Amino acid sequence: MFIEKKYKDNKELAEVFADRFAHLINEMKDQERINVLLSGGNTPKQLFQNLSKYYNNRIPWEKVHLYWGDERCVPNNHKESNYNMTKKNLIYFVDIPNENVHRIIGENKPELEAVRYSAEIRNNVPLKANWPVFDIVLLGIGTDGHTASIFPNNIKIINSDSVCKAVRHPNTGQQRITVTGKVINNAKYVIFLVSGSNKAVILDKIINKKQGYENYPAANISTKHGVIEWYVDNDAAELI
Ligand code: 6PG
Repeated sequence: MFIEKKYKDNKELAEVFADRFAHLINEMKDQERINVLLSGGNTPKQLFQNLSKYYNNRIPWEKVHLYWGDERCVPNNHKESNYNMTKKNLIYFVDIPNENVHRIIGENKPELEAVRYSAEIRNNVPLKANWPVFDIVLLGIGTDGHTASIFPNNIKIINSDSVCKAVRHPNTGQQRITVTGKVINNAKYVIFLVSGSNKAVILDKIINKKQGYENYPAANISTKHGVIEWYVDNDAAELI
């Protein structure tokens, strides 16, 4: 893993990746569908706002299908809902058909929703070696080295044979649904978006393979057929 370029801040990172995202989507525009797995949290907000502001007419949104790599088990209008954040920063502002938005239903019983969402992905996303192949996967990294909602205390989910699992946040106990490692590692493009000085220590440990790095889920993302790209700002990369 190596960081080719460091960006000034999240604003620049989001500007550059928005353009890259549009380029990748347009490269795939002859596909029937372009399946994108979104990350949640705060980092992608700026990216979504850029896409909303400048790319509605520069991306064939009718081809783009949005899925989530993880979701908090809360109502879809809850302030912590990843779907709600995406709706308010992206979905409301681009011409994407409702049927192209495949949200995780946070209101459902978690174990049942993990099964339901696994089936929704399997039934709609092309399979390779019996695993769904997303075209683009966006990922963030938590300060504890989690990615999606695969946390260090549950790292075995990286190799789970399920597409999705119901998990709990190790600190808050919040219930979540997450895709598993094999789904992420089967993607064509895996994009890490990492911003902020609070990520500097964990990024250093992962990128420079410091002792114990392999215990961080984000360090276990390695695409089988695809490409991993890093979009990191100077604050997050200050120790690299
Ligand atoms: C979530 C995310 C999670 C996120 C990291 C980084 O639901 O929280 O999917 O994996 O990407 O926690 O979050 P920030 O972007 O808020 O730092």
